[in-house]
Amino acid sequence: MTAANPADTEHGLPEKPAPFCPVLNILQGQKALVTGGSSGIGKAIAINLAHAGADVMINYLSGPEKAEAVAEEARHCGANVVTHQADVSKEDQVEGMFAAMVETFGAVDILINNAGLQKDAAFHEMTLAQWNKVIDVNLTGQFLCMRAAVQAFMRQGIRPEVSQAAGKIICISSVHDIIPWAGHVNYAASKGGVMLMMKSVAQEVAPQRIRVNSISPGAVRTPINTEAWSTPEAYAELMKLVPYKRIGEPEDIARAAVWLASDQSDYITGATLYVDGGMTLYPGFETGG
Ligand code: BGC
Repeated sequence: MTAANPADTEHGLPEKPAPFCPVLNILQGQKALVTGGSSGIGKAIAINLAHAGADVMINYLSGPEKAEAVAEEARHCGANVVTHQADVSKEDQVEGMFAAMVETFGAVDILINNAGLQKDAAFHEMTLAQWNKVIDVNLTGQFLCMRAAVQAFMRQGIRPEVSQAAGKIICISSVHDIIPWAGHVNYAASKGGVMLMMKSVAQEVAPQRIRVNSISPGAVRTPINTEAWSTPEAYAELMKLVPYKRIGEPEDIARAAVWLASDQSDYITGATLYVDGGMTLYPGFETGG
């Protein structure tokens, strides 16, 4: 039994049951890299990929013990899981991480481009440092990792024993790749950039049988947006934006990522999958217009 999820403890829910280890693992033998994998959505994806049979490298920026705790949980069904410290916005560190991936696992089959952050400010007060930091991590970081992954996939070609595709990339974007977001202009610009970067790369590398897609989460219970869900008042406000009337959990995103990384979705490339409880359905129009 793993330790209680802090969110569960807070909401009086019981500890999570031990993970179910499927007999037929849809990612068996695949090698996956998850950036920003020590918390939030990245953590859930790393664990779920491993429980679906993939060997996983968990990238993190700081806090090695947190990353190691995620790796421990991910190993439950027998996968090989390692951690790797690197800043995704630094070219040399990204190159080093992919070299470590090949050295450790001998291949790269799946990249989950997840590392991301917010530096919120009113637009007229936004500093260049706040702008640059968000673009560097959320957009340039995804570019650097995606380029290194595509190079690795091209070198490898298809590994028919594990997948029909030569490689899969999943960019973790946001509903704010399409919903404008006042007070978060740097973040929305970075995610809008991710969307067309993803589609353009998908178009370019499809002939090499490399699939590139995005998952765009809505409001998900993670540390990035604690103030949006941690009090009853904030939660009620948030629900006005969510037709499905519940917050997303990291596992909602992770389940979609496992499927999108597997051959179950082999004909899908260049797609944005909104996993948002309907947040992109113009909820302001629920009662008229
Ligand atoms: C942001 C969250 C926000 C959600 C919905 C995400 O991309 O990181 O802070 O709650 O979008 O607005």
